[in-house]
Amino acid sequence: MKRHVKVQRGKALRCKGWKQEAILRMLENNLENAEMPEELIIYGGTGKAARNWKCYDAIVDSLKTLGHNETLLIQSGKPVAIFTTWTTAPRVLIANSNLVPQWSTWEHFRELEQLGLTMYGQMTAGSWCYIGTQGIIQGTYETFAACAQKHFKTNLKGKIVLTGGLGGMGGAQPLAVTMNQGVCLAVECDEKHIDRRIKAGFCDQKVKDIDEAVNLVTKAKDEETPFSVGVLGNCADILPMLVKDGFKPDIVTDQTSAHDELNGYVPSQYYGGSLKEAVLLRKQNPKRYIQQSMESMKQHCKALIDFKKKGSVVFDYGNNLRGQALKAGLKNAFEYPGFVPAYIRPMFCVGRGPFRWLALTGNQEDILKTDQTITDMFPKDNILTNWIKLAEKHLPWEGLPARVCWLGYGERAKFALAINKMVRNGEIGPIAITRDHLDSGSVASPYRETEGMRDKSDAIADWPLLNALLNCSAGADSIHIHNGGGVGIGLSTHAGMVVVCDGTKETDERIKRVFTTDPGTGVARHADAGYKEAINFAKKTDIRIPMIKK
Ligand SMILES: NC(=O)c1ccc[n+]([C@@H]2O[C@H](COP(=O)([O-])OP(=O)(O)OC[C@H]3O[C@@H](n4cnc5c(N)ncnc54)[C@H](O)[C@@H]3O)[C@@H](O)[C@H]2O)c1
Repeated sequence: MKRHVKVQRGKALRCKGWKQEAILRMLENNLENAEMPEELIIYGGTGKAARNWKCYDAIVDSLKTLGHNETLLIQSGKPVAIFTTWTTAPRVLIANSNLVPQWSTWEHFRELEQLGLTMYGQMTAGSWCYIGTQGIIQGTYETFAACAQKHFKTNLKGKIVLTGGLGGMGGAQPLAVTMNQGVCLAVECDEKHIDRRIKAGFCDQKVKDIDEAVNLVTKAKDEETPFSVGVLGNCADILPMLVKDGFKPDIVTDQTSAHDELNGYVPSQYYGGSLKEAVLLRKQNPKRYIQQSMESMKQHCKALIDFKKKGSVVFDYGNNLRGQALKAGLKNAFEYPGFVPAYIRPMFCVGRGPFRWLALTGNQEDILKTDQTITDMFPKDNILTNWIKLAEKHLPWEGLPARVCWLGYGERAKFALAINKMVRNGEIGPIAITRDHLDSGSVASPYRETEGMRDKSDAIADWPLLNALLNCSAGADSIHIHNGGGVGIGLSTHAGMVVVCDGTKETDERIKRVFTTDPGTGVARHADAGYKEAINFAKKTDIRIPMIKK
């Protein structure tokens, strides 16, 4: 029997308090927004919320009975213990997909997964902080805005972005491009996924013929009209063909599930109706599937390099396509940069990163009121205020109403306190504040967030672990440590956190600490790596770094 989990809305509690109820609603919200809910898969290839339905039910039961001085432990999607701790300690601690370093490969992971001992947690899937495609829209909007600013000194008006993948994360691309006034051509092999994005208002049109798609985007470019089209096809076939035909997109990137060659990426020739055959091959002959997948990624990545040679701006969008192509023998796979060093790192240096909040009772008004508060609090931040306006206009509500924006060190604590005060005053219902694991101090990922660090510390994974430990000490309500994320097993270590705003004064104290330690570790991490922006910023704040003199 298919199960459809929906988030409980309203003020009635099933748990002993809002802290536990919030975490339960966030888990349910993940499933309400999931790409494949019946398999507990939330997004990003096989990123899951719980190991299996039995574990899911046990997690729900545990949260319902969890005391105010107890902490529930989740080991890769399975509830494994409840201990008495402190009322100020986290209610839930989660560790997902972690393996001893020498065993940290997809091969070992899959063996252990087969034995039922682990699951893939992606980033926000296994930590129950996914808020639907809107969660990534803002980061994608911010990335395309920074890219346009850097290369064209303006927005994306009259520019074509060619990309692949319209899944949970990738589905944000068409709307993020049109929000930046540009034109998007997205290649997707699964027709259902194109339909889903169109239904959600993230993509304008579906087309089955690539020539028709090229004509449509070329016309929109000439007319400087924001427009997006999802074309049914396989990137490994279509992109090399477009290079050959002399098509000249302004920007090329990709968000197919390249990080997982077996359960994510779809090899060349399979799309639409023939996708069934790929699914069968995956089950019957995984070795052959992987071979085809790796070869296809090599061709796909080569096409991106060819586009770069012909003058397009090309960047990797955090799915490890380059790493896979290198593994498949494409020696110059890393010829184009990752999006973090290219556009995001300067923001990380000053602790600026993703900040998201969910209205736990399901009331959209709560989010609209906080939109007003944040706009009033930071009127000079044009990117932020513009984003909030665009979000209200363009973003559909998905699951629990939520908002996401990027805020810096200092701003996060200030705004979180304002939210908690609004809850206390009865202006809005309880709110959960969380973030993506992709943040200033919470991730080590040499092919993504920490690619090309100034001091070569790309693979140092101590930082996200310290970030998680410190957030525990500071009073977050749930903390998460994962392996793999968007780039795959063995390639990243990252941490997440949640603080539940129940309006109490005690939560004010937690907020002051957590929203200082969390972005603060990011500033310290980048200062330690020698980034001048981070060092100068740290000197101006109360962040104390023993080896850097004020
Ligand atoms: N940049 C970031 O911040 C970020 C964040 C999270 C995840 N990611 C990574 O981005 C990738 C996409 O994430 P997602 O959540 O959208 O994954 P997803 O699995 O939900 O979607 C991937 C989509 O790509 C399509 N696809 C796969 N192979 C294809 C091919 N050869 N040609 C055309 N379409 C193909 C699939 O049908 C699917 O719709 C993943 O690798 C993920 O790990 C990046």
